Amino acid sequence: MEDTTTADATPGTVCVTGAAGFIGSWLVMKLLERGYIVSATVRDPGNMKKVKHLLDLPKAKTNLTLWKADLAEEGSFDKAIEGCSGVFHVATPMDFESKDPENEVIKPTINGVLSIIRSCIKAKTVKRLVFTSSAGTVNVQEHQQPLYDENNWSDLDFIYAKKMTGWMYFVSKTLAEKAAWEAAKENSIDFISIIPTLVVGPFIMPTFPPSLITALSPITGTFLKRNEPHYSIIKQGQFIHLDDLCESHIFLYENPKAEGRYICSSHDATIFDLAKMMREKWPEYNVPTEFKGFDENLPIVSFSSKKLIEMGFKFKYSLEDMFRGAIDTCREKGLLPYSNEAPPNGNANANANGNGDV
Ligand SMILES: NC(=O)c1ccc[n+]([C@@H]2O[C@H](COP(=O)([O-])OP(=O)(O)OC[C@H]3O[C@@H](n4cnc5c(N)ncnc54)[C@H](OP(=O)(O)O)[C@@H]3O)[C@@H](O)[C@H]2O)c1
Repeated sequence: MEDTTTADATPGTVCVTGAAGFIGSWLVMKLLERGYIVSATVRDPGNMKKVKHLLDLPKAKTNLTLWKADLAEEGSFDKAIEGCSGVFHVATPMDFESKDPENEVIKPTINGVLSIIRSCIKAKTVKRLVFTSSAGTVNVQEHQQPLYDENNWSDLDFIYAKKMTGWMYFVSKTLAEKAAWEAAKENSIDFISIIPTLVVGPFIMPTFPPSLITALSPITGTFLKRNEPHYSIIKQGQFIHLDDLCESHIFLYENPKAEGRYICSSHDATIFDLAKMMREKWPEYNVPTEFKGFDENLPIVSFSSKKLIEMGFKFKYSLEDMFRGAIDTCREKGLLPYSNEAPPNGNANANANGNGDV
């Protein structure tokens, strides 16, 4: 039978950057389940509020180590990557409201991935580097196309001219992925990028995940007006379940034939489609029927995962599964009120804008 693993027959040691975050922590959980040894990087390993969910994972005691590393510090990832067969670079600064976007978001994202490539070169053991990119590198442009694939890149001139919500994040991911492709090629690093659309689902991190501020904005926007600008991001949206996304990371890491960019997106929906589903499944939230400035007959904008599917990958979850998982977890953690009528507890109100701790 053909060998389908990049690493040894038994899963080896892999590094996950941004391990405490929404995607990173779920990916760490899945890698531990598969028997991988995981070197996880976080900025503050001593902050129990931010790392307890990792330390509590099954097999964490024997198979997980935490390393302190910051994208803004050259060489910061050397120790965590030393001896690893693979690296999943998931970390990214996500502050859409940064006062200094160039220094707090754009530069660390670009310099961070380049520094991680240098750490991989120094380690000499890394067989593949997997970069979690973003749909923001693909379709941010003046006129939306009906369909996007891996050949598309966002229009940086348009982003700088428009400075829409999240503009610095779109710039940072686009420039970082382009710089990484060049550096990986020059240094013969086996590099692949995965392009998730908006990631939704249950989660283990303790605070309100950044992408759920956007995904749940039709619900939270009714009681937190500051979430309304997020409507524009899901006006013509695309979605992927967190578990499907993490499965795709491991699937592509383990598949020796994987190369280039891979879109990972299972569902397309306009904000009106989403709002309709939310009103039907969660009537307790009074989700609006109209969104100011948006035409109800908006066309769907689709992201094609054809390349990933043709490699043999199968998506498991529906759009409803994604939102049910996300809403149930937010409720259980006290991050979301149970209805518009229920007085939100202090945490729920504070956390739906992503700023509070539980
Ligand atoms: N969620 C989505 O819908 C979505 C969609 C497309 C792409 N992505 C990509 O997926 C990745 C993970 O996103 P996420 O949703 O999991 O976001 P997240 O929960 O904010 O996780 C990002 C992690 O990056 C770390 N980080 C931020 N600045 C850093 C720095 N200067 N140095 C080192 N680490 C830093 C944070 O680590 P600390 O714990 O140390 O604070 C945080 O845990 C990102 O690369 C993002 O571009 C996400």
